[in-house]
Amino acid sequence: MKVCVIGSGTMGSGIGEVFAISSNEVVLYDIYENQIANARVRIEESLGKLRDSGKIKEEPRDIVSRIRFTTSPSDLEGADVYIEAVFEKPEVKAETLKKISEVAPKKAIIGSNTSSISITYLSKFVSNPERFLGIHFFNPVPVMKLVEVVKGDRTQESVVRKVFEMVKALGKEPVISQDFPGFIANRVLVPLIREAILLLEEGVATKNDIDKTVRLGLNHPMGPLELADFIGLDVLLDIMEVMYRDFGDPRFKPPITLRNLVNAGKLGRKSGEGFYKY
Ligand code: CAA
Repeated sequence: MKVCVIGSGTMGSGIGEVFAISSNEVVLYDIYENQIANARVRIEESLGKLRDSGKIKEEPRDIVSRIRFTTSPSDLEGADVYIEAVFEKPEVKAETLKKISEVAPKKAIIGSNTSSISITYLSKFVSNPERFLGIHFFNPVPVMKLVEVVKGDRTQESVVRKVFEMVKALGKEPVISQDFPGFIANRVLVPLIREAILLLEEGVATKNDIDKTVRLGLNHPMGPLELADFIGLDVLLDIMEVMYRDFGDPRFKPPITLRNLVNAGKLGRKSGEGFYKY
């Protein structure tokens, strides 16, 4: 199967990596040369970890050789599946989906890795909405088992079934969600992280103690503030903005602290500082 992943950030490169591990031909496309170069390094490092812990047997360089790293739109022609993983901004996703529709064969499946934006809304920008749906992976993609498969208003049932099987063939666990903002995971996660930020704002506890409580008291692998830094505070803010706008409910309202950190360029791990310093 030929799979094109559009957007080579953390999520896009992880998605490309897992398809390549499963012997698919992958095109990893970005408009930025430097993003593509970073993606290659990220994938090589990740494959190295998977090989060292015995989770893959194949040589990382053989897996990488199935990935075409490219900024050339003509490489996107003739694929079976397209997955967009660009910024979580409705206008950026819309533009990307229009471009994908121009090159994708009629029978191709087009998926969006959006974490919160309505699939039915995004389907307005593809030429074949029956074959469009949400395919939402989790970070770090090579480690996290879950994939949310999201049905838009016009998504064909047969396409949902096909993607469900495709996800299983990647060694992942699919769940099916209807098209509601934040789907399943972020509906639960966003209020959790938001509440942790409010605890901090209200001075109820230190950031270390908030995270420690959730790690040791609730058995989560990361505390909510560490996890926010790991997701990226800009990404988290984008998700909250969409959910707050769509639900109109204060459960999803971005806290001031989060907005201030993003405005200050403190985006979490990737920028060297967020709630914590790295
Ligand atoms: N590629 C390959 N392997 C990786 C990896 C990567 N990028 N990152 C970690 N690993 C592997 C490590 O090699 C290690 O493998 P072994 O156990 O075989 O040695 C294993 O994963 C654990 O990693 P570490 O020992 O380095 O660290 P850890 O035990 O703290 O685990 C973690 C790291 C897996 C990220 C863990 O902290 C975790 O699960 N955190 C929560 C992640 C989470 O909640 N993700 C969802 C975010 S929300 C989202 O993505 C969706 C959205 O819409 C916002």
